[in-house]
Amino acid sequence: MPQPFIMDHPLIQHKISLVRDKNTGSKEFRELISEITMLMCYEATRDLPLKEVEIETPVAVAKSKILSGRKLAIVPILRAGLGMVEGIVNLIPAVKVGHIGLYRDPETHTPVEYYCKLPADIEERDIIVLDPMLATGGSAIDAISQIKGKGGKSIKFMCIIAAPEGLDALTKAHPDVPVYCASLDSHLNEHKYIVPGLGDAGDRIFGTK
Ligand code: PRP
Ligand code: URA
Repeated sequence: MPQPFIMDHPLIQHKISLVRDKNTGSKEFRELISEITMLMCYEATRDLPLKEVEIETPVAVAKSKILSGRKLAIVPILRAGLGMVEGIVNLIPAVKVGHIGLYRDPETHTPVEYYCKLPADIEERDIIVLDPMLATGGSAIDAISQIKGKGGKSIKFMCIIAAPEGLDALTKAHPDVPVYCASLDSHLNEHKYIVPGLGDAGDRIFGTK
């Protein structure tokens, strides 16, 4: 079994318990998804390169560090990935945001493509693909294939809850893409939902059920 980066910080684990709870309403659910993503972003960007600069403080000149100008992009998979955008944009305001529209066919559980708009210079950017749920892996695999088809090279995938089946499929299809998740759950049920999971992420974010 391929190993994802599991971000099991106590704050993340606490918030995951709250989003799993079926009694958590849409407003709190959205806030929690955003907060979990912000905490995960902090870990997933640990390898960003820095450069040294001189800054004049009110007291003296300090040698200090800033991000070295590597360009970043995030690509949420619609719809549920939209819930993860704010948490990253708040931390990295200069990030560019692409969008990929996919939904799972309810019968076949395979992804149906309906939208793709990426930053024009996607091939130069470090890209983080966002989707709270990695179930069969079909959506993540398709989204990453589309990004690679448009020139994307440096890609990470960030989800909140992953199933072993999806992790296995994604790692086989895109072995170059590191996977970051907050929980690796037990398995998929007969409807390809993650067990125990949190239900339908898109419906819970947007209140459509
Ligand atoms: C959910 C989820 C993922 C996908 C995961 O989206 O947000 O995109 O399912 O399943 P997979 O790993 O088996 O492909 P859904 O298709 O329900 O669309 P929605 O976000 O528009 O509700
Ligand atoms: N999509 C979801 O939103 N939840 C699951 O458990 C599986 C796919």
